[in-house]
Formats: sequence, structure tokens, C-alpha cells
Amino acid sequence: MSALPKAKPAPFDIERIRADFPILSQTVHGKPLAFLDSGASAQKPRVVIDTMSRMYEQSYANVHRGIYHLSQVSTDIYEKARETVAAFIGTPDSREIVFVRNATEAINLVAYSWGEKFLQPGDEVLISHMEHHANIVPWQLLRDRRGIVLKVAPVNDRGELIWDDFVALIGPRTKLVAITHVSNTLGTIVPVADVIRVAHEKGALALIDGSQAVQHMPVDVKALDADFYVFTGHKLYGPTGIGVLYAKAALLEAMPPWQGGGDMILSVTFEKTEYNDIPHKFEAGTPAFVEAAGLAAAIDYVQGIGLEAIGAHEHDLLLYATENLKAINSLQIIGEAEDKAGVISFVMGGIHPHDIGTILDREGVAVRVGQHCAHPLMERFGVPATVRASFGLYNTRADIDALCAGLQRVREIFG
Ligand code: ALA
Repeated sequence: MSALPKAKPAPFDIERIRADFPILSQTVHGKPLAFLDSGASAQKPRVVIDTMSRMYEQSYANVHRGIYHLSQVSTDIYEKARETVAAFIGTPDSREIVFVRNATEAINLVAYSWGEKFLQPGDEVLISHMEHHANIVPWQLLRDRRGIVLKVAPVNDRGELIWDDFVALIGPRTKLVAITHVSNTLGTIVPVADVIRVAHEKGALALIDGSQAVQHMPVDVKALDADFYVFTGHKLYGPTGIGVLYAKAALLEAMPPWQGGGDMILSVTFEKTEYNDIPHKFEAGTPAFVEAAGLAAAIDYVQGIGLEAIGAHEHDLLLYATENLKAINSLQIIGEAEDKAGVISFVMGGIHPHDIGTILDREGVAVRVGQHCAHPLMERFGVPATVRASFGLYNTRADIDALCAGLQRVREIFG
């Protein structure tokens, strides 16, 4: 019997998609909302909100702790969410998925648990100049505790990793290469398959921060051969308070717990504690199981549309926005990598980004202004701050038009 054809995602119907997001239909200061800050946090489709409400209304009880029906239902939903996440990023082994609060917590977990056990004074961790603070500060804290050396791979004027310099910085003491998949500030897509391959060739492990990637493109951690891959739920149209650490099972087995408490133990006496199996060994305390269910609903939602289709739609927005922004007098885009996701940072002459953001807000346009948790990158490009527009699957060319019209208004005001 021949296999059934694989279900194809529905065609990309932007009006239907926008109708799935209740928040988008509102006006702000009397203007239609043009929400261009999904890089900071994405809006939520109705299905995510409903899934979480339903769980609170119908199947709420603490997980892994109750013999009674509701707790078992709740536990099933939580563990099913773990399987959904595992399948989403391409691992068949859901034990490799640790639920955490966010990507920041995932990186801190690796730095504390893996870093403290496996790194010696003088060992090196290599990051890049375009990292979010979440992938800088945990390594600095580890440097202060363990005497490791933190190295930084440079980026060129387009905002791309300078490949030869990056490779040359991986030395015999490099134990970990920790790099973003997509820059939150520049939108640069880093060739992480090559990063991981080169790290492995030189005997280092690789951690990829996928916080700005998983919502824009398909990710397969097994095809990439990533050792650690982290992301957060709220930028993936899921709730806040839930994030994911993927790590190869053998690594998780070898790593010690980093927080102690309930759920991460098998038995406790005052003399000795036996730890639970992975991944529970890393999930101390009551986990965010309603949020995990919401995240699974968000994943089902984006998969129903298709990551390829989402990526194509956002790429069209990126091209349209780049062309139209460049036509604005004195506007300079920061970060023009060959390969970019739907994120555009820019400055406009001497006008402070906060003034630009405030005027745009009056026009109903929501963008992020500031340093985007990437202070060293701002220094690299010699700017105190930028305006950043970041796209989600629900954005339209009309949102970009509103942004450009708002920027013309900025020009009028500042002359
Ligand atoms: N990390 C989030 C951003 O890039 C908050 O805006």
C-alpha cells in the first residue's frame, strides 16, 4: 500500500492569519496598530490563549505529583508538549528537551552545570561580537568563577561573522563555541551548520542561541549536530515564562543539576540525594506546565502554516522594507548581511532613536529603540542606539508603509 501524501500546509493567507491574533485589530492613538517588535516578543494567536485558558478551566493540577485524574491529565499534557518541542527541532528523544524559563536561563544552565564541571582555568569559550547579553554575561560570570577565557569573533561592516578570523580563534583550549543563529539586532543569519562543523573538527562543542531563528525558519538540531540549542517560547508566538534547552542526551547525563528542589530528585535523605533522570534532573520545582502547553499550541500553529512559508513571507517584507527605508533621506541601515531574517536596525542622521520611537508610536507603529541587549555591537558600529523593526508572520506591507510614513513625519518634525 502506498503511503498517504504528506499533508501540505494551507496557502499563506495573511488575512486569515491576522484574524487569529486578537490583539492586532486594535487601534493605538487612533491609528491601526502596526506591530513591528516581534523580535522582542511576538503576539499570541487565539489558539495559544485558548489552550492555556482551557487547561486552567478543565485540567489544571500539578504535574508528576498526583495519583489522581487531573494530575495525570496535566502531566500527560506537559510531557506531550515536550514531545511536540522535540519533534519541532528534529530530535526523536524528548529526554533531550529541558523546559526552562527562557533562552537566558538555558544558557545560564549550561554555563553553571556543564561549564563548572567540564571547564578548567585557561579553557576558552568563543562567542561572537553580535551576541545578545544573554550569550555574553553567563560566560563572563563563569570566567569570574572558573578562570576561563572568553574570546570574541569579530563581525564585518555588513554584520557578518568574519569567517577566517572566527576559525582562527578556535584553538586547542577552545571547549565551546557559543553563537547566535540569528542576530536579534542586525538580523544576520549565521551559517551555524558550518560553525558547528568547524567547532567539532577542532574538538569544541557548539551552543546555538536560536531565540531569533526558530520562528523564522525550520531548525533541525540533529542535522546541524548542535550540542546545545536554546530558544524562548514568547518569541515563537507562545507564552512568556517558558523556554527550551536542547542538549544531546549524553551531555545531559554527564552534567550535574544546577538547581535543587522538588521533581529533580528520586530520593532525599539528609545524608544524600539521588537525582531524577534527564530531563527532570534539570527541572527543579513546579515547572511552567500551562506555559509548556501554550508553547506546544504555538508550535502546532506555526507548523500548520509552515516555517518555509513564514520565512518566505517575512523575506518579502524584508526586501520591501529595505528598499523603502533606503529611500528615506539620511536613513542608514545597520547590518546588511547577505543572509538576513526579518529584522532591520537603522539610524536617521542625528535624530535620537528614542525620539523616532516616540513619534512612530503616535502613528500606531511599535518598534524597539535602544541597544537591544547588545551593547558591544552598538560600539562596534559606532552608534549609541538604533531603531529596530522586526517582523512576524502576521505583518504586512501596509505595516511597512505605516513605518515609512511615520519616518517621513519624523523628518518633517526634525527638518
Ligand atoms: N531579546 C529581545 C530583543 O531582542 C528582548 O528585543
